[in-house]
Amino acid sequence: MANKAYCRIFQGVMKIGNYFMGYRTPEYIEGPGSIRSLPAQILEKGVRKVLLVTDGGLVNIGLPNGLIEAMKEAGLDYAVFSDIQPNPTDENVEAGLKVFHDESCDGIIAFGGGSPMDCAKAIAARHARPRKSVAQLQGILKVMKKIVPVWAVPTTAGTGSETTVAAVITEAKTHHKASINDPSILPKYAVLDPELTMGLPPFTTATTGMDALCHAVEAYTNHTYNTKEEDWRAKEAVRLIHEYLYKAYENGSDLEARQQMQLAAFHAGRAFTRGCVGYVHAVGHTLGGLYGVAHGLAMSVILPHVMRQFGPAVYGRLADLADVCGMAGASDAEKAENFISWMEELKVKMGIPAGFDCIQDADREQICRWADAEANPLYPVPVIWQREDFMKLLDTLSKA
Ligand SMILES: NC(=O)c1ccc[n+]([C@@H]2O[C@H](COP(=O)([O-])OP(=O)(O)OC[C@H]3O[C@@H](n4cnc5c(N)ncnc54)[C@H](O)[C@@H]3O)[C@@H](O)[C@H]2O)c1
Ligand SMILES: [Fe+2]
Repeated sequence: MANKAYCRIFQGVMKIGNYFMGYRTPEYIEGPGSIRSLPAQILEKGVRKVLLVTDGGLVNIGLPNGLIEAMKEAGLDYAVFSDIQPNPTDENVEAGLKVFHDESCDGIIAFGGGSPMDCAKAIAARHARPRKSVAQLQGILKVMKKIVPVWAVPTTAGTGSETTVAAVITEAKTHHKASINDPSILPKYAVLDPELTMGLPPFTTATTGMDALCHAVEAYTNHTYNTKEEDWRAKEAVRLIHEYLYKAYENGSDLEARQQMQLAAFHAGRAFTRGCVGYVHAVGHTLGGLYGVAHGLAMSVILPHVMRQFGPAVYGRLADLADVCGMAGASDAEKAENFISWMEELKVKMGIPAGFDCIQDADREQICRWADAEANPLYPVPVIWQREDFMKLLDTLSKA
């Protein structure tokens, strides 16, 4: 388990390194119907044939059809790869890479939720580094090479993958879920078209929105690597989610709420790309890999529990977030408690369970080891946990 002094020294060095890293923000077009202008933009960049990476569910409901029509009209050649499962695997990435090669593509459209977007980014990374497997690309700065242009088109308002350095991929054989983290896979371009999220069912709206909240809250409470920009983006994301997530959940056709949630997910994704996520993600990824728990659901369930377990170490930062949402409180502790209670009440209102019944006793050590390896020393978490802290969280999650 993590050595606290080593972690904090590592994070001090990373903080300095991060200043020189210069995280870009993708160029993006936004607004209802903006997707239709994408093919012309791609042609302008000199790309000849794109691989449209999406998932089978989206193909079945016809969500990419408008884009496909627009590509035909604009004369942009394309191939489609949609054999992707939620929590995409290295096998999905290899299958997509094969289509990319077989079809002689020179650009990628990543169209969908985090699963197709991450798979698309990983395909681009594998193409840039043909001798490295997905497992060898996982970790920090293992790509370090220019990738083919990627246009990211989110259809959930959650992961922010359109603006992050991460691609989270599960190894099919071991069920180990881990992230490729490298600025070179941060998409160059994004399209934030709220009409694409209008058909997202209420429960997926809720859980993916809570994922965005989790990015903002974890990045903000971590704070060590943040510049003013990440702090601002995290707070703005929290403000927007506080105002619009429940509206989007209640009425999926509320275009304003959909648009603001897309923006919130974008800000939150950009905030954690430098600021990092924390133990909610580290533990949630293991549950996604082991039991197939959807990412957003894992985040929604775990987020308030981790914040409560951090205790006084996060009161000041959570009080800032409470302020942004206009919540009352006589002290930082009271405001922090109000903020955590708001997250819990929101969960209940949107039908999100308090805990999980899938966690197997036999897996608990593995979960601790994988979560510790993901988070420490990279994530500048407010409190560095030991085995007993992870076990305490697993107890809470199983009993809740
Ligand atoms: N790269 C990153 O920075 C990052 C950050 C957080 C999470 N992730 C990863 O992203 C993945 C989760 O992504 P997600 O939460 O967006 O879910 P997802 O991409 O797995 O999609 C969930 C389901 O929603 C459906 N769906 C998506 N958009 C829809 C729409 N507009 N209408 C109807 N149905 C729609 C999909 O077909 C799928 O069945 C996980 O693997 C997670 O680890 C990545
Ligand atoms: Fe996430």
